[in-house]
Amino acid sequence: MVTRTVLVTGANRGLGLATATSLHARGWRVLLAARNGEEAVEAAARLGDGARGVAIDVTDPLGVSRAGERIGQVDALVNNAGVLLDGGSDVLSVPIESVRRTFEVNVLGTWRMCQAFLPGMVRRGWGRVVIVSSGTGAFSNGLFAGAPGYALSKTTLNGLTTLLAAQTSGTGVLVNAVNPGATKTRMMPLAHRSPESAAVGVADAVTLPDDGPTGVFLRDGQVTEW
Ligand SMILES: NC(=O)c1ccc[n+]([C@@H]2O[C@H](COP(=O)([O-])OP(=O)(O)OC[C@H]3O[C@@H](n4cnc5c(N)ncnc54)[C@H](OP(=O)(O)O)[C@@H]3O)[C@@H](O)[C@H]2O)c1
Repeated sequence: MVTRTVLVTGANRGLGLATATSLHARGWRVLLAARNGEEAVEAAARLGDGARGVAIDVTDPLGVSRAGERIGQVDALVNNAGVLLDGGSDVLSVPIESVRRTFEVNVLGTWRMCQAFLPGMVRRGWGRVVIVSSGTGAFSNGLFAGAPGYALSKTTLNGLTTLLAAQTSGTGVLVNAVNPGATKTRMMPLAHRSPESAAVGVADAVTLPDDGPTGVFLRDGQVTEW
């Protein structure tokens, strides 16, 4: 069996680390990316053989394109890095600067990573791209008004997922968004779900079969409404 390589952003903690751990346990070669290179290396060392840490700040255009050149072939990309900066605000009073910083990481960072790594997958005729989204950005849920910049960043990621999926349709690359649900991490310390439990659905979207869906919104392996 071919050993495939997955790159996970924000893999030094939380859902990213749990996803990297789950895919490593499933036999994948894992690149754990974190903006702090030392934390990336430490996290990879805990996983052992087949895991490597790489420094990637998704907001750094030059850093991302250099990482793309340095790393080379990646079969799957999990866009997990994200920030929630505007909890407790509302759409009329939220500082636009905090919305801008949220979009820099969540939206533009993800988009930039896709531009760096997805074309190689298309050329090779196989790839899996997962965009870690959120129920807060789903129209079907009602957008979460208490963190408007964050919620709308996730709505935009859902739109990005459909555009990427449409452009790569029929190439062997599957692009899907995943809603992990409220998960106990630094971002959501009061949630009840463990990162290990939420990571199963993210890792499942990476290991989809060739006839699996593309351009859909998944929650624990089930297609849900946007
Ligand atoms: N927890 C939830 O309930 C929940 C629900 C739905 C969706 N999500 C999504 O799940 C993803 C992971 O979040 P989490 O809950 O695991 O939160 P977390 O523990 O705060 O982890 C966020 C990760 O993103 C990284 N990151 C932030 N800015 C970055 C940048 N510029 N470049 C690279 N990495 C960056 C962080 O790195 P540092 O350690 O260096 O800060 C950290 O590794 C996010 O996209 C989040 O929106 C979470």
